[in-house]
Amino acid sequence: MLSATKPSGSLSPAALARLLPAWNSGAGPAYRELADVVRLLVLDGRIALDVALPSERALAETLGVSRTTVTAAYASLREQGFLSASQGSRARTRLPHRAAPAQMPGLVAPDGVIDLAYASLPATGEVVHRAFADALTELPALLPGFGYDPLGLPELREAIAAHYTQAGVPTSAAQILVTSGAQHALNIILRTLAGRQQKVLVDHPTYPNALDAIRASGSRIVPAPLPAAPEGPAAGGAAWDVEAMVAAMRQQRPAMAYLVPDFHNPTGRVMSDLQRRRLVREAAGTGTVLVVDETLRALDLDGVGTSPLAAFSPAVVSIGSLSKSHWAGLRTGWIRAEEELIARFTATRTTMDLGGPVVEQLAAARLVRSFAEPLGARLEALRGNRETLLGLLAEHLPDWHFERPRGGLTVWCRLPSASSTALTVLAPDFGLRVAAGPRFGVGGSFEHFLRVPFTLPPEQLTTAVLALRAAQDRLDAAPQLRRTLKEPEAAAIA
Ligand SMILES: Cc1ncc(COP(=O)(O)O)c(C=O)c1O
Repeated sequence: MLSATKPSGSLSPAALARLLPAWNSGAGPAYRELADVVRLLVLDGRIALDVALPSERALAETLGVSRTTVTAAYASLREQGFLSASQGSRARTRLPHRAAPAQMPGLVAPDGVIDLAYASLPATGEVVHRAFADALTELPALLPGFGYDPLGLPELREAIAAHYTQAGVPTSAAQILVTSGAQHALNIILRTLAGRQQKVLVDHPTYPNALDAIRASGSRIVPAPLPAAPEGPAAGGAAWDVEAMVAAMRQQRPAMAYLVPDFHNPTGRVMSDLQRRRLVREAAGTGTVLVVDETLRALDLDGVGTSPLAAFSPAVVSIGSLSKSHWAGLRTGWIRAEEELIARFTATRTTMDLGGPVVEQLAAARLVRSFAEPLGARLEALRGNRETLLGLLAEHLPDWHFERPRGGLTVWCRLPSASSTALTVLAPDFGLRVAAGPRFGVGGSFEHFLRVPFTLPPEQLTTAVLALRAAQDRLDAAPQLRRTLKEPEAAAIA
C-alpha cells in the first residue's frame, strides 16, 4: 500500500493537507475532527510511523485554521498515544502502547495474576497491524456486496489452498471452508460427522476445548493413551502408540478421530511420517474419518518437517488456524477437505453463523500469502523461552519430570504426586493461573500432570516457576490441603 511518507521521514504541510480533503465537516470541534482524521491516516498506514508532522504554525497556515486548533489536535493525538510527546522537536507519529507487556490482556488475568492457563502468544506485531491497515484499503471494493460468504472470501480460500499446495498437498480453493478459528471448525465437523450414538477417538491427553466440544456434541469419547514420555534428549521417538489406536479403531469403530499430530497440545510431540501413513491406512479400513488439528503445525521448533497428514490420503480432514502462528485475535481458521465434505460442512455452518467478518479475512489473506514472514522471529523467541522454562523447571522443581517438546507452546510435566488440581487452586495465591492436568483428559486422568506453557518472556517465566515452587512447598508442608481444596472454577483455557 502507498503511504504518503517514508518511514522515519517527515511530512510537509502541503503533503499532509493533500491527505486531508474535506476534513472539517463542522460536525464537531475543528481540533477534534483534525485529530480524528490524522489518527485514521496513521491507523490505516497512509501516514507511516515515526514520521515528523508539520509544525503547528506551518500546518495552521496551510489549512487556514487557527494555530490553537492545530495545537489542540496535536495535544489530543499525543494524549491518545498517536504522537510522540517530545517537547521542542516536531511531534512524530507512533502507535499507542497502552501498558507494559506485563499488563497486556491475555498475558495477565484481570486480577494481575500471570496467566499460563492460555497457551497463546501476542500478535506478530507490526505484521498483523500492517495486514489490517492494508485490508482497510481493500475494503471499499467489497462494500457494494452483501458481505455474506459462508465459505469465506475467495482470496483467502485461494491463499490457504496455495499454502497447502506449497506444503506438498495439492489443494483447490473449493476444498477450503474459512471458519472463525479452529475451535469453530471442530464444532462444524462434529455436528456434521459425529453426534449421539457416535464415538470419537482422541489422543489422551488432548486439547481441553476439543474434549468439551466433543462432549457437547453428545458423542462418546474414546481415549487413545499416548505412551509415557520417551526418555532422553531425543524425546519424541515413540510419541504415539499407533498399534493401540488401530486396535481401538477396529474394536470401537469410531465415526471420527480428532488428532493433534503436529506439536501436540499439551505434550509438544510430533507424529512420524511412518506412523501417519499407517494410521491413514487403518482408518480407511475402519471407516473412521481422521480429523487433524494443525493449529500448532507452524511452531516446528526443532525443524522436524513432517508431511501434513492430508498428504497421505484425500479423505483426511484438516483443521488450520492463524491463532498460534500469527494471532488468536484474528479469529480465523479453516477446514480443508474433499469438496463434497466441504459442501456438507458449509450447510452445517450456516446453522451457526453465516460467514466470517470481511476485514479479518482480508487481513488473513495477506498474512497467509506471506505466511512465513513473522515466523522466524517467533520461533527464535519460542526456542529461547523453551530453554529458559526447561532450565527453570530443572533447577526449581527437580522432582518434576518433563519431556522436551519438539514444537508448539507447552511442556507437559509429570508431578511426583497426584497434586495437579491442588496446585492449580493454590497457584493464584502466588500470582499464577494454570490449567490442571485433568482438563486434558477424561475420567479424572492426569492428576499427576501439569501443562506449563513457555509463551511468556523469560522474566515472567521465572516468576511463574517460582510461584509453582511456592505452591508446591505449601502443599508439601500441608498435604491434607489436597483433600480440602475446592475444585478450581472451570475457567477459560486455550
Ligand atoms: C490444538 C489446538 N486446537 C485449537 C485451538 C484453538 O484455536 P482457535 O483459536 O483457532 O480456535 C488451540 C488453542 O490453544 C489448540 O491448541
